[in-house]
Amino acid sequence: MKHIVILISGTGSNMAAIVRAAERERWGVRLGARVAAVISNRPGAKGLDFAREQGIATGVVDHKAFDSRETFDAALQAEIDRHQPALVVLAGFMRILTPGFVAHYAGRLVNIHPSLLPAFPGLHTHQRAIDEGCKLAGATVHQVTAELDHGHILAQAAVPVLPGDTADALAARVLTQEHIIYPRAVAGLLQTM
Ligand code: GAR
Repeated sequence: MKHIVILISGTGSNMAAIVRAAERERWGVRLGARVAAVISNRPGAKGLDFAREQGIATGVVDHKAFDSRETFDAALQAEIDRHQPALVVLAGFMRILTPGFVAHYAGRLVNIHPSLLPAFPGLHTHQRAIDEGCKLAGATVHQVTAELDHGHILAQAAVPVLPGDTADALAARVLTQEHIIYPRAVAGLLQTM
């Protein structure tokens, strides 16, 4: 059985969707892998509680304990590689990764970003989509490359931007779709490995 490691920084609802897909078929998804560990850069990340409740190994590599991105990424890499993952899944992991780290996991590092890339890389994607008058917003699953929020697109979902939408309302609408496309995209990628 292949292993995956999921990196989170906060709530971890995408991580939970993938964990659930690993447990049973959901939306026709069979993940074909075991979630070997959930690792956070924030000790208080809510998603760690969910992972512990599921009996999944958890780890914390607190970025505040490191004085450079390189030393943080080296410690994170060591923590990940203990679990020998086929795939490393970023699920609301809010750290910019160094080119060396990305190269180490070339082809087996994926991310979900809350916009229809290549539109709106970076932060505050929902407010920016509303401000631009976009009629559609969404989320993108993509391979991670050294360039932030670039890399081969594996899956996308679009939702309407409704009149009077707030960033929070739009984020919630997009997140519902993220929970569907991310397990599917991870399962699809694992099948090719
Ligand atoms: C999700 O919307 C995800 O797309 C986004 O953070 C949220 C995490 O929610 N990721 C990024 O913005 C990455 N740059 P979750 O912790 O409930 O999965």
